[in-house]
Amino acid sequence: MKYRRLGKTELSVSAVGLGTWQFSGVWGKHFEQCEVDEIFARARELGINFLDTAECYGPNHLAERLIGNAIASDRERWLVATKFGHNPGNGLGDENYGPVQVLIQLEDSLRALRTDYIDVYQLHSAPNEYFDNDALWTMLDKQVDAGKVRFLGNSIAPRMQAQLAKSLDYGIGVIQVPYNALQRRAARLLFPMAQEMDLGVIARAPLAMGLLSGRYRQGHVFEDVRAMFIQQAQVNERLAAAAELLRDKPRSMAPSTWANAWCLQESQVSTVIPGVKSVAQLEMNALAGDVQL
Ligand SMILES: NC(=O)c1ccc[n+]([C@@H]2O[C@H](COP(=O)([O-])OP(=O)(O)OC[C@H]3O[C@@H](n4cnc5c(N)ncnc54)[C@H](OP(=O)(O)O)[C@@H]3O)[C@@H](O)[C@H]2O)c1
Repeated sequence: MKYRRLGKTELSVSAVGLGTWQFSGVWGKHFEQCEVDEIFARARELGINFLDTAECYGPNHLAERLIGNAIASDRERWLVATKFGHNPGNGLGDENYGPVQVLIQLEDSLRALRTDYIDVYQLHSAPNEYFDNDALWTMLDKQVDAGKVRFLGNSIAPRMQAQLAKSLDYGIGVIQVPYNALQRRAARLLFPMAQEMDLGVIARAPLAMGLLSGRYRQGHVFEDVRAMFIQQAQVNERLAAAAELLRDKPRSMAPSTWANAWCLQESQVSTVIPGVKSVAQLEMNALAGDVQL
């Protein structure tokens, strides 16, 4: 495994990290604690030290609780990134991004993760009006001073250049963006500015939610959370584009390894966080931390 600098935070993150939305139960599989423990045990062996999660991945901080139990014995070995604010399921709507609610979420995340600090605490897909809130960032600064949070981050979409431009005003040192061989807009719209500001960059969905895994054929109908996020016409279009791209990969390389390695060719990317459902998937993804395309 190779390690990269997470921008101005100076954290040394594994080039391949671990995405954990899959533990929430909405990806067509429910995880037992022993399965998550196995994934983390193998991740340790493979040199992975970075994970991404969120308070809203599953009811009552489910993914965070599974992770907290899996890393309780060696918490300090891990760099834990979690997120706050975006939880359509909890009925709090706009309030969810306010300082009072976010502080409650932070305390709950710390409890779920069985830790007294979070390495990277990210605003989760917030509209501009909730991002531009001095009271929120002032409260978060206090949590940094108190040692509950080490660094602040912002998880955004490529079109959110306005938020990116204000990162330094609000003490944000890390951004998380969708970036993969099928969705490249972040490289053009965000990476140059992120480089200027020396922000760490977490590339999410490196496999385009599985469409670059080589497992799916034209006409495949997803019955999990992907049915909500990718329209059927887009599934077909993206699978056709993926097949075209995968034709050029080295023959001996698994599509998933190639897809992660493709993202890591971009020096602005500090780490990719493929979401995994099994030890076998984890292993194929981790290989990307050692190959050069
Ligand atoms: N707004 C945000 O902040 C936000 C949004 C999205 C994601 N995220 C974060 O980013 C992470 C990654 O994004 P993502 O999970 O949406 O997309 P992804 O990483 O591109 O795709 C994950 C899916 O790809 C398949 N896969 C993974 N490794 C594989 C392998 N080696 N071989 C074959 N298939 C493999 C699995 O699906 P199947 O086995 O079912 O095909 C898995 O569920 C998430 O887990 C989450 O932590 C954050």
